[in-house]
Amino acid sequence: MKILKTIAEIKEYIKQFKCKDELIGFVPTMGALHEGHLTLGKEARYECDCLIYSIFINPTQFGPNEDLDKYPRDIGGDLAKLEAIDVDAVFLPDEKMMYPDNYKTYVKVEDIGKILCGKSRIDHFRGVTTIVSKLFNIVECDEAYFGKKDIQQFIIIKKMVEDLNMNVKMISIDTVREEDGLAKSSRNAYLTEEERKAAPIIHKSMIKAKEDLAIHFSPEDLIEDVILLISEEPLAEIEYIELRRSKDLSKVEDLSEEGILLILAAKFGKTRLIDNLLLN
Ligand code: PAF
Repeated sequence: MKILKTIAEIKEYIKQFKCKDELIGFVPTMGALHEGHLTLGKEARYECDCLIYSIFINPTQFGPNEDLDKYPRDIGGDLAKLEAIDVDAVFLPDEKMMYPDNYKTYVKVEDIGKILCGKSRIDHFRGVTTIVSKLFNIVECDEAYFGKKDIQQFIIIKKMVEDLNMNVKMISIDTVREEDGLAKSSRNAYLTEEERKAAPIIHKSMIKAKEDLAIHFSPEDLIEDVILLISEEPLAEIEYIELRRSKDLSKVEDLSEEGILLILAAKFGKTRLIDNLLLN
């Protein structure tokens, strides 16, 4: 497995695949890799001739009071995990490489970046789309793999790819969960023992909403019940719970619609968790 730290190195590396028209699959990450990240690569491995991961904690997607400084880091462990799933190359740039002095350019997808997580994380998605477009340009991937846990991120990046005519096939992979239903996330490491025990209430309530979809009259009625259920857990502080259309995150008007996504964010102590489930 090659470890490539500069843009020049990765550009040189991909030439061998580009000249033979071979498929490059790409998984962008911020490290602290768990089974969710590795599942993306395992899927890509079936499809692609060359599998590249990037590990870069992107400062522009963190707000001033967010967890950039304490975001979990484990480069040694990450590289061992990637080697074990037969990754060809890891792009490991530093901050100066991605954002040199006097960096000025940002990519922003309007509207869908302002709802849901974008309400409390103001410039978060602008940071995500900026770094992902830079990475796509550098890696020149044919296919990019993302987890469905971050469904808003996936839909926003897909819109960017479409609007900017980028030649990248966007692939989303099902959320990997712990045995008790909690979605795997690098941020789960912040949870105290008590908070960790409480956190599966999110998945439990989403499953209940799916089972009970037919007995509710309206989106508001269903959301009210999910709020009640989550509120039984005193450590859970709900940030938002919404029903959105899975294709574009527009608002669900009626429960008879197809592709209804239940999407939410909740805090357990200082840790903010997000999750979503397709209800029908
Ligand atoms: O999902 C993530 O880990 C990040 O938002 C991403 C896509 C790697 C961009 O920094």
